[in-house]
Amino acid sequence: MTEKDFLPAPYQHFSDGGKVTWKAPSNIALVKYWGKLAHQIPANPSISFTLDACATTTSVSYQKKEGNIGGFSFDLFFEGKPKADFKPKIETFFGRIEAYLPFLKKYHFAIETSNSFPHSSGIASSASGMAALSLCLMDIEKQLNPEMDEGFFKTKASFLARLGSGSACRSIEGDLIQWGEHPKIPNSSNLYGIKYPFEVNPIFKKYHDTILLVHKGQKQVSSTVGHDLMHNHPYAQNRFQQAYDNLDRLKSILADGNLEDFIKIVESEALTLHAMMMTSMPYFILMKPDTLEIINKIWKYRNESNVPICFTLDAGANVHVLYPESVKEKAIQFIQDELVVHCEKGHYICDRIGVGAKK
Ligand code: PMV
Repeated sequence: MTEKDFLPAPYQHFSDGGKVTWKAPSNIALVKYWGKLAHQIPANPSISFTLDACATTTSVSYQKKEGNIGGFSFDLFFEGKPKADFKPKIETFFGRIEAYLPFLKKYHFAIETSNSFPHSSGIASSASGMAALSLCLMDIEKQLNPEMDEGFFKTKASFLARLGSGSACRSIEGDLIQWGEHPKIPNSSNLYGIKYPFEVNPIFKKYHDTILLVHKGQKQVSSTVGHDLMHNHPYAQNRFQQAYDNLDRLKSILADGNLEDFIKIVESEALTLHAMMMTSMPYFILMKPDTLEIINKIWKYRNESNVPICFTLDAGANVHVLYPESVKEKAIQFIQDELVVHCEKGHYICDRIGVGAKK
């Protein structure tokens, strides 16, 4: 599909108003997206586990505007309180998606949003937040065009979410989502995420992600700035190629359930992401001393016990500890005994692979 396929035909119905609510999960990338071109086109393909517990719930009430249509009109509430500092981001988002949702200026919206995870946990809410908002807007569009089919609804929600925050396009469905054109992945697209189309071993259907909250404060460098620093980055082209190659390699690993090789790719991807940050100009480090302590302890524990637990990182200091259901008890024991001391206030979140957003 191309951008043009998301431009709607004139609407059949016109609703005076209503309210829709969606809950969308966060996601954790196995092969990372880092670096983008204009219009939120990723510089390389990526793949992620959709999460379950970490989610954003968004309600959108909409009411037809009277008289002069004017610009976008909306109020924004975060956890029940007006949130003026989120408004510019939504205004920009609406500007980017207006051509695809021409009803946007016809309504006044009240957007109420809340996260399942604490606000200051260092967990980015942009993926789940933009996914939940996009689903609400698609729900409104579906009321104006009731013939829309389910598949198109989800694809367009992913397409819109991408225009809000790239990785948000992987937060519509579960459980393993791929985004970005790859010559060997049929139907892969730079415009939206797709369900991973190849065989996936059952071991990856019940995977756990325990998120260790190492640093809850705001990170010093935003993802937007980080992505931009991949322009003219000395290692960018090799890094992008590596992501293509890792997606290739993952095909047989995911089918066979080869955890040893899975771990090599996932950990290497996490460290490469941070290596790109450390080698950009200006350079920066988002890991904290406790991030490294945790990584070293995971390596030691895995070597000694053969328990297949591994880590991945987002663009921040928190550590995502990944492990299959079969070692759940051992992994949680190890996390409690050895890793929780490295978490801010001992806080961590037990999450797992999930099935996607819900109305
Ligand atoms: O969606 P953004 O622009 O916040 O970028 C997210 C990038 C990473 O989380 C670091 C990697 C990824 O693929 O999710």
